[in-house]
Amino acid sequence: MNEIQYKEPENDKLGPLTKISETIIDEIGTVGYIDDGLGIHMVENKSDKIQAATLHLYTPAYEKVKIWDEKTGKSEWCMPQNYSINGVLCKQPNLNNLIVEPAINIQNLIVKIDRLTEAHKNYNSKEFQNAINHLLVSYRNEDWKKYLFYNDKIYTRNCVYSDPDGKFELLVLGWNCNQKTPIHNHPGAQCYYKLLAGEMYEVSFQEPEEGKFGKLVKIDEDVMSEIGTVGYIDDGMGIHYVENRSSKVKAATLHLYLPSYGKVKVWDETSGDSKWYETKNYSLDGEIV
Ligand SMILES: [Fe+2]
Repeated sequence: MNEIQYKEPENDKLGPLTKISETIIDEIGTVGYIDDGLGIHMVENKSDKIQAATLHLYTPAYEKVKIWDEKTGKSEWCMPQNYSINGVLCKQPNLNNLIVEPAINIQNLIVKIDRLTEAHKNYNSKEFQNAINHLLVSYRNEDWKKYLFYNDKIYTRNCVYSDPDGKFELLVLGWNCNQKTPIHNHPGAQCYYKLLAGEMYEVSFQEPEEGKFGKLVKIDEDVMSEIGTVGYIDDGMGIHYVENRSSKVKAATLHLYLPSYGKVKVWDETSGDSKWYETKNYSLDGEIV
């Protein structure tokens, strides 16, 4: 853990806070101490790989805490929320904690997505979508490789987790050279995708009205080339296909479908003909099915 101590500004004086000291606490078992006479502080786990835990004793107990902005010196009182009490998660998880804490591995990402879907029933709210996007961006571990298989003939849907109640599904897709999807929809679901390896192209079209045929109307064409980029599509935005156009480099993407779905509608670009198909996974939890 990293600790930075500052002087407490007198009489709510504004302006940047004055730093007193910066300490790294890296020896397990070390005990530290602070009270208002010594100053105010912030503590941080700066590692993007290792979680940390600390034991705190406040005597006497307190309910309110004053927080400062380091640059402006502005302060406000707030009530810190407990995330769990006596080993039991509180009914209203503190969403801020979920948002600021990165997902340190793929199982941790699943747990955090699950908590967000439990805490936030309105999946269409901007707040919820931003939180999901933030979680996917924060996941930087390479443990997705354990779930990834490639196939010479088809791109692969490798299921990492499928929620038993159908709330969401997390997949790693494997794109061999020059493999692509047909043009498809995402029936009633939000689709978040993140580039893990290689480079992917996305071409989107207007969804034709029921019973209308003819060449599909293209909306946009995009390339995703920066590893870690997160994209999003739902039926309100159109239908699309995604493609690895490289003849040399394989690609991989992480997909979150929320809620899960078992059927997908597929279009022919020239005729506008469409058909429903069942989605098929190539592997489940690291085993080919
Ligand atoms: Fe898609």
